[in-house]
Amino acid sequence: MYRFLFERVLARFDPERMHQLGFGLLRALLWLSPLRQLVRRWCAPPDPRLALRVFGRELDGPIGLAAGFDKDAVGFRQLHALGFAFIEIGTLTGRAQPGNPKPRMFRLLRLRALVNRLGFNNGGSLAAVARVQRSHGVPLGINLGKSKLVPEAEAVADYVESAERIARHADYVVVNVSSPNTPGLRNLQAVELLRPLLVSVRATLERVVPERRVPLLVKIAPDLADDDVDAVADLALELALEGIIATNTTIDRSALTQVEIERLGAGGLSGAPLKERALAVIRRLHARVGRELVLIGVGGIESAEDVLERILAGATLVQAYTGFIYGGPGWPARTRRELARLLHERGFANVRDAVGRGSG
Ligand SMILES: Cc1cc2nc3c(=O)[nH]c(=O)nc-3n(C[C@H](O)[C@H](O)[C@H](O)COP(=O)(O)O)c2cc1C
Repeated sequence: MYRFLFERVLARFDPERMHQLGFGLLRALLWLSPLRQLVRRWCAPPDPRLALRVFGRELDGPIGLAAGFDKDAVGFRQLHALGFAFIEIGTLTGRAQPGNPKPRMFRLLRLRALVNRLGFNNGGSLAAVARVQRSHGVPLGINLGKSKLVPEAEAVADYVESAERIARHADYVVVNVSSPNTPGLRNLQAVELLRPLLVSVRATLERVVPERRVPLLVKIAPDLADDDVDAVADLALELALEGIIATNTTIDRSALTQVEIERLGAGGLSGAPLKERALAVIRRLHARVGRELVLIGVGGIESAEDVLERILAGATLVQAYTGFIYGGPGWPARTRRELARLLHERGFANVRDAVGRGSG
């Protein structure tokens, strides 16, 4: 039903406008807390097979919403009500910024994919703080990036400023160095630049929240060479990060025709064409770090089969963005249900039991 509506009607309209409209409607419909709780109970009934403890917190499932959907933390309660176990807000930057000129988001129905070059459009980390005060009960990751106008040499200070503001409110913090849409950002994935950045953000989290260790993760691109993936994994172990998120969108265009490449221009590709590489990166990371870090698998996850495949490859948690857009508001609840069934069928007592069991 949603698929029919999406392909025949919704897909005729500009994707960014449709996102704003759809998200606005969801926020309005689930504005009232009692209604949200009711919907949540319907969409995500407690299931011991799906529950797991991560980052010192009980999660009622392994499936979260990826960064970029709720950049400014305006609707995470409503998104949680749909059945996601956790929500990652952001990317937030130190300064508010408008992002790139429109149009900057495109659908590729043929490939069940999106291309975006939004460029971290967001109201800035200061404005978001008021909206993410704790006690909302939603497990919340907060994803940080560099403001476009801040030169690369001052990137660390920009991340640190945001970390200072939001640390207290985060269940985990992500240093995002992998968006293709902020010039130079991905250079920060090089270990010589990444080390001082992560050390400074860690020190900030410890200073601002001395009473609790705020988990720190780094989010990487699928376009890193395998050796560079290994180097980031080694650095994450050395600095005792809590985890790695793999992956962001890709700049690879091999799945597109020449006409599509010219029509869409620059940007990050997400959805089905990203799946194989994102899965391979999780496998590689798992082989390198074992269970010492929490791996969050993201990229091309469309179904419960994809979720389980990513978990078997070594991910403890997974996220989706494009699969949710194509699957509609029922996607998180449906995928949860299906995952519980799959775990049962394959003889796993719970999600934890399945982590990393299919690789190697
Ligand atoms: C429109 C759009 C905006 C995004 N914005 C962000 C962002 O601000 N920060 C970030 O770390 N990732 C961002 N992403 C990347 C997603 O979080 C995710 O890593 C990627 O899309 C792969 O997952 P998917 O195939 O399930 O979409 C964005 C993705 C899309 C499609």
